[in-house]
Amino acid sequence: MSPSPEDRDRYDHWLTHFRSNVARHEVLDAQWDWSAPVELSPTQRRAFVHSLQRFELGEAGDGIHLLGKAERVGDATYTDCLRLFVAEEQRHSALFGRMLDRFAADHLPGHWSDTAFTLLRRALGLRTELVLFLVAEAIALEYFAALAEGAPDAGLRRLGAYVLEDERHHVSFQIDRLREGFARTPAPLRLAIGAVWGVIGFGATVVVCLDHGAALRACGRRPVEVLRACLRAIRGSIRAVLGDDASRAYRDAPQGQESPTDSTAWSARSSDGGA
Ligand SMILES: [Fe+2]
Ligand SMILES: [Fe+2]
Repeated sequence: MSPSPEDRDRYDHWLTHFRSNVARHEVLDAQWDWSAPVELSPTQRRAFVHSLQRFELGEAGDGIHLLGKAERVGDATYTDCLRLFVAEEQRHSALFGRMLDRFAADHLPGHWSDTAFTLLRRALGLRTELVLFLVAEAIALEYFAALAEGAPDAGLRRLGAYVLEDERHHVSFQIDRLREGFARTPAPLRLAIGAVWGVIGFGATVVVCLDHGAALRACGRRPVEVLRACLRAIRGSIRAVLGDDASRAYRDAPQGQESPTDSTAWSARSSDGGA
């Protein structure tokens, strides 16, 4: 999965994005009013605490194993991007934790699902680990969109919008790397990988929509409707990575131009139901 020299421009683009996003976060963080009163009923508060506790754990990883795999591939620019990506996830985790403090709620010391997911990722190669990230992030897009649009508390809506903007770019970042990683995989094998990916995506979506159903309903969203949106997003990401057009477009893309999977283009494809 080592990048060709001409692919470096692609990661220069992502490095610029991640670096400029640090400044965006600093501006947003300075404007945040954490002392604003909580606008939730006890039932709604319980639902969001349940969600935030799991997201806080899920995004707190130090990324040491992931970065180690990237370093072994030998692409310094991509590894720098990944380092900033891991820092963004840790920032999300800190924000979820701060929101739990605002709700006067406890933090989870650990959860079996997070431990299992972490062990599974560590056992896999870089490419497969990125696929799992992409599944989780495609689902997260729908969850945080629901939070941004419909949460009954202004602080939660702000948190949803903040994380959603980052996750849109994360999805595009993973797609860019995975398109490159699968570009030379034979078509029949890509088909089989897409099928397994779809099954994993379906299972993960069902688990998340059940586990976070109360929070989704508190945002005015029916879990089954979110489930359908997640499956569309996952199908879109699979096609963006493994579709024939995607593979050809990746190989033929002139160097130095905007990333072919920039977040706007990907969002449009996924909302259409695929690339
Ligand atoms: Fe995140
Ligand atoms: Fe992410």
